[in-house]
Amino acid sequence: MSKEKRRAGASAADTAEENGENTALAPKKDKRARAQFFKALGLNAAVSCVLTLFYAFAVRGGFGTGWDRESITEVITVFFVLTLVYILLFAYEKYFAEALKGNSIKPFAVSLLISAATVGASLAFMKYVSVFFVPIAFLFLLCAALVGLRTAIFNLFTTALALCFIVLNNNGVYDVNGAICGILCNTFTGALMIFASGKNGKRVDILFYNVFFGFIAAAISTVYATLSYEFSTENALWLFASVVASVAVFWLLLPVFDKIFDVCTDFRIFEYTNPANPVLKELKEKAPGTYHHSIMVASLAEACAEAVGENPLLARASAYYHDIGKIKAPEFFGENQFDGYNPHDELIPEVSASKIIAHTKNGVQILKEKGFPEEIVRAAEEHHGTSPVNFFYNKAKYMTEGGLESTDYVYDNHKPTTKISAILMICDTVESAVRANQSADTEALIAKLIKDKIDMGQFNECDISLKDIEIIKKTLVESIPHMFHSRVRYQTEKKE
Ligand SMILES: [Fe+2]
Ligand SMILES: [Fe+2]
Repeated sequence: MSKEKRRAGASAADTAEENGENTALAPKKDKRARAQFFKALGLNAAVSCVLTLFYAFAVRGGFGTGWDRESITEVITVFFVLTLVYILLFAYEKYFAEALKGNSIKPFAVSLLISAATVGASLAFMKYVSVFFVPIAFLFLLCAALVGLRTAIFNLFTTALALCFIVLNNNGVYDVNGAICGILCNTFTGALMIFASGKNGKRVDILFYNVFFGFIAAAISTVYATLSYEFSTENALWLFASVVASVAVFWLLLPVFDKIFDVCTDFRIFEYTNPANPVLKELKEKAPGTYHHSIMVASLAEACAEAVGENPLLARASAYYHDIGKIKAPEFFGENQFDGYNPHDELIPEVSASKIIAHTKNGVQILKEKGFPEEIVRAAEEHHGTSPVNFFYNKAKYMTEGGLESTDYVYDNHKPTTKISAILMICDTVESAVRANQSADTEALIAKLIKDKIDMGQFNECDISLKDIEIIKKTLVESIPHMFHSRVRYQTEKKE
């Protein structure tokens, strides 16, 4: 899309809307979705091929007796089982989970690679170490941290199912009863570990819960395995060893995966919400008014994100840093003018507008330099979209007799491309407006502000729905009075 079109707030959806099609707020179905589908399919096929070859040569020991019909059928079945599981994983993530929401293949690729590594390691360990040493809990922990809980749950159960099929299909390679028992016990361990551990907290606490609940699950699994299978102390030790190995490898690899894939894990986001973060401290020192505004926006954005099923922690962190660019020139923003001096009084409106508009680009630059996750940088970049700076545009119109170029008075950024960016845009606007008009009817003001953004086409490039917008509006109407400490009006006493 051309810069001019973006500035004017136009999009393909707008054009379709003019043609009478109901496309408001609908996601753009463009080439990116098709490219994503084929990339995912290619990756799926590549991973299935590599895993099948790994199984055929490293686990099954090649075709020592030659390429007999049974061996070939067995290996082909492994390929089909894996391909089917990964197609299911893709379909689930595309339509029900979080991994493929943003037209990026990365989260799906991460979940696929983790699953493939787990399948490969499990098949090899079950053959060469013990059928009870199945590092499947590792998959669940890592996938939940890097991609999302729903993806992890689906990935865990489909991977366990794939392993069961492969084991059942290869009677000569594995002790089938023991292997199935081992897979079930380790799947249960992984599930209990993640559900009991939670995700928001200090890493050391989560590590403790991982080990604690991992051991409880392993103990329960030992009882089950004793009843259902010829069980020995050695097997029990292997079951506990797989818990320790899963947790240890997870915690050792998590920072590596964080860096390699630049994935915005909740653990990483949590660090950015710490008030002791140096960038947040700098904001507090250089632009205290902006800092306070950001804290208020963060509370609203967190509540709205939770209400529409988005990541509340990411919404909070994004809000903390959305106006970080203002630290380069804090005095140009009303919330930081405490002594009555306003530098805009000495500037022409065009220059004033450029000073205001610059804070988004400055923010992106600062966040990138400091190595912030892509998701937080994107939210800062998109929080004004292509909205106009009305105050200075109106001031210029008042001062100018001739025509006035409106493009000098609008933010030249991307419109929100994620729900988090859209939530941030709404909460930012609402917080500022309510602060400036505390006597106004809050509900009517919020409705008007949101309608203005919709009319300007600010949400045409993200998949936020009208239903989401209604939920956000309702959440704001409920949250704002608490934040601004509106007093309950006492009823006047009836005159006798
Ligand atoms: Fe801003
Ligand atoms: Fe703001």
